[in-house]
Amino acid sequence: MTYISNDIINEIRNRTDIVEVVSKYVNLTKKGKNYIGVCPFHDDHSPSMSVSPEKQIFTCFSCGASGNVFTFVADFEHISFVQAVSLLGEKLGYKVSSDNAVRKRDDYFEIYDIASKFYQNSLNTSMGKNAIEYLNKRSIDKNTIKKFGIGLSVQKVSLTDYLRNKKYSLDKLIDIGLTNDNGKDIFINRIMFPIYDLSGNPVAFSGRIYNTKDTSKYINTKETEKFKKGKILYNYHIAKEHLQKNDTVIIVEGFMDVIRASTVGINNVIATMGTAITKDHKNIIKNMTKNVILCFDGDAAGEKATISAMEMLEDTQLNIKIVRLPNDMDPDEYILKEGKDSFINQLDSAISLIDYKMELLKKNRDFSDVKDISSYVNSVIKELAGEKDDIVIELNLKKIATNFGIEYSTIFDRYNEYKKEKREVKKDIKLRKYYNKYSQAENSLIYYMLKDSSVIKMVENRVGYFPTKNIRELSNEIIYYFHKYGIISIADFISYISDKEQLYNTLKEIIAMNLKDDFQIDEIEDYIFVINEYHKEMKIIDLSKKLKEEKDPLKQAKISLEIMKIRGVKKDDTRD
Ligand code: UTP
Ligand code: MN
Repeated sequence: MTYISNDIINEIRNRTDIVEVVSKYVNLTKKGKNYIGVCPFHDDHSPSMSVSPEKQIFTCFSCGASGNVFTFVADFEHISFVQAVSLLGEKLGYKVSSDNAVRKRDDYFEIYDIASKFYQNSLNTSMGKNAIEYLNKRSIDKNTIKKFGIGLSVQKVSLTDYLRNKKYSLDKLIDIGLTNDNGKDIFINRIMFPIYDLSGNPVAFSGRIYNTKDTSKYINTKETEKFKKGKILYNYHIAKEHLQKNDTVIIVEGFMDVIRASTVGINNVIATMGTAITKDHKNIIKNMTKNVILCFDGDAAGEKATISAMEMLEDTQLNIKIVRLPNDMDPDEYILKEGKDSFINQLDSAISLIDYKMELLKKNRDFSDVKDISSYVNSVIKELAGEKDDIVIELNLKKIATNFGIEYSTIFDRYNEYKKEKREVKKDIKLRKYYNKYSQAENSLIYYMLKDSSVIKMVENRVGYFPTKNIRELSNEIIYYFHKYGIISIADFISYISDKEQLYNTLKEIIAMNLKDDFQIDEIEDYIFVINEYHKEMKIIDLSKKLKEEKDPLKQAKISLEIMKIRGVKKDDTRD
C-alpha cells in the first residue's frame, strides 16, 4: 500500500470542500446549515443523506453511512482510501500517488465482466453441447441462459491464459478468485452462474457440475474483497427493480429457484445461496421493502433455515410470511411440477409468522395425552406473550380453547399468570436502563471529544475506564491523535481511523445518532459521572460473583472489603 503521511492527508482534506465533491456525484439542496441529497449507499428515493460544510462530513440517517470526503469518494468509486486521497490530492496539484494509487477504477469488475463473457461464449461453442443439453433438460431455454449470463468453464481453453494475454497480472487473478496458486483456472467443466453485487457489478461465480459426479455440486468463488457471501443476495439488483410493481420480496435458497421463478414471470426473488441470513442481509432486506415471503426448500433443512431466518428478521418491522412447500420440493421443482398458477397460489396463501410458529409448536406432540396438551398450551402461551397484537393473542387463545375443549377463562388466566411472572423476571431491566444511560454517555463523550479538545482533557483526567472495548479504544485513539497533532476535527480523525474497521464502524454509528452539536460543560460532567458509576457497578457485580464462588473465608473477607471500598467512594470523590 502506498503510504501517505497524515499531515498531507489532512492538508488535502482541508483544502477540499466536501459539498463541492459530493455534489459531483449526488444532487444536493441546501437545507438550513447543511445540504441534503439521496444517499448513494443504499437503495432510496428520498433525501436521507446530509452533508455538513461546517463539520466536513456526510451522514445518512437511513442506512447509517457516514464519513469524510475521502471515504465518500472511496466508497462511491469502489477505490481504496489511499486512492481517494490521491485522486482528490491530484486535483490540488499534489503528487502523492504511485501508479497503483492513481488508477481510478479497480479492474476487478472489468475482469469479471470479461470472464463472464468468456464463459458465455464457451457455452455457445461445440464444447458446450452437453451443457446446453443438460440445461434444456432442466427446461432452461436460450433466453433464460442469456438473462442470467449462464456460461461454461471448460478444460480445453484456460480463462487464466486468456486474461493474462490481456495483461492482467497472475497475482490479481489469484487475488480475485479466478485462478489458483498454481496458475490454473479455479473453475473447470462447470456450468457457470455469475453473481453480482448489490449495484449489479459481477463479483463472483458459482459453478455447477453437470455431467460428472463431484462431492460439491456448486463451487463458489472464495471470499474476496468484493465478494462476501454474507453481504450479497443472489439476484438482488434485478429483484429490486421489480419491487415497484410488486412490493414483496420472495427469499429462496438456491440459484435455480430464482431462475425458475423468473421463467414464469416472477422476478422479485432473491436467494441466500444456501447460507443462513446474516445481519448484513437483514439490513439489505429491510431497505428493500416491508413485505417478505420466506420460501425455502420443503425439506427438513429448509424448515431449519426458515426458523433461523425468522429469528434473524424478527426484531424488524417487516411483515414476514412463510410458504412451506409440500413433499420436500424446492421452488424450482414445485414450479416445474405444479406450474406457475399453483406456485402463485402458494405465495398468496403464505401464512403469517405467528401462525407458522403455532404450527411448529404442534410438531412431535401426542394430543391424546393430556400432559402433552398442557405442555403444548404452555408453549403457545409463552410464544403469544411476546406478541404485540391483542387480537392475535385472543384469537389464538380462543382457538386452543375450542380445539381442546378447555374453558377460555382457564386458558386466559394461565396466560395472565405467565405475563405476570415475566414482568417479575424483568427486574434486571433496571440494569439495562442503567446501561442505556451509560451507552448514551459514552457515545456523547466520544462525539464531543471530537468537537472540542477541552472534552478530551476532561476524559483523559477523569474517566477511569470505559467498560465498552470499542469505545475505550476509540477514546484512546482520540487522545493519542490529539497529543500527536495538537488539534482535533471529526473529519480528520475519520481519515486517521478509516483503516481500523471496527473502530470506524463504531464511530459511524455514533455520527449517525445525530447528537446535537452544542453542549454544556455540565452535561459532560454528568456523562463522566455516569461512566464512572457504571464502571463501579460492573466491578461490584463482578466481585459479588467471585464472592459467591469463593470458599476461603479469608479471601471472602478481602473481597467484601473491596466491594465496600468501591461502594463507599462518594460521588464527589470521583471528581479529581
Ligand atoms: P441446493 O442443494 O438446494 O441446490 O442448494 P439447488 O438450488 O436445488 O440446486 P440444483 O437445483 O440441484 O441445481 C441451495 C443453494 O445452496 C448453495 C447454492 O447457492 C444452491 O443454489 N450451494 C449448494 C452451494 O453453494 N454449494 C453446494 O455444494 C450446494
Ligand atoms: Mn433444486
